[in-house]
Amino acid sequence: MKFFIDTANLNEIKEANELGILDGVTTNPTLMAKENITGNNNILKHYVEICSIVDGDISAEVNALTFEEMVAEAEILADLHPNIVVKVPMTSEGLKTIKYLSSKEIKTNCTLIFSPGQALLAAKAGATYVSPFVGRLDDISSDGLQLVAQIRTIFDNFGFETQILAASLRNPMHIIQCAEIGADVITAPLNAIKALIKHPLTDSGLAQFVADYQKGNK
Ligand code: G3P
Repeated sequence: MKFFIDTANLNEIKEANELGILDGVTTNPTLMAKENITGNNNILKHYVEICSIVDGDISAEVNALTFEEMVAEAEILADLHPNIVVKVPMTSEGLKTIKYLSSKEIKTNCTLIFSPGQALLAAKAGATYVSPFVGRLDDISSDGLQLVAQIRTIFDNFGFETQILAASLRNPMHIIQCAEIGADVITAPLNAIKALIKHPLTDSGLAQFVADYQKGNK
């Protein structure tokens, strides 16, 4: 199971990378704007910087909405670094773009997936990853994890190689439940990843070990 961090913040990316468990990074236009990365050149430079920190797949999202424009943008993004995965929205134009990019062996991540049918179409078009948005479904009283499970069943039924990249995860239990379901990849904010490390019994057990060691080695 791969762990990606869902941020454009370089300090958070470095911190997660130093933990030794990071396999990649996902970004989106909102995460870029949050870091005040604006203007096409700055955005492209930022992707290159992320690629220099993490040795793994780095999702870079297109901003265009038509097939021709998405392909043009995708080709620029893919040329930045071999680890770039072009993130394409789940629309008709997006599907055509994924099909085209897959024929050119450019890796893609089909984003904004909210139904099993959307995931099935993206897989048929040859997407490298599909990104079901778990938290955003939970936000509207739907079941985001059930969607991940449905996609797992469908992909296993037909042996699709498209990887399930569970996204919009908000907490450590989302990550654990995605692991149980068999999502190939999770992407989550740093705080949700780091929350997996903590357990009160680990803290109290360690405090006891330290105290006992010090007692015996005064
Ligand atoms: O990876 C998708 C993610 O960035 C969306 O997360 O929390 O905005 O729903 P969120």
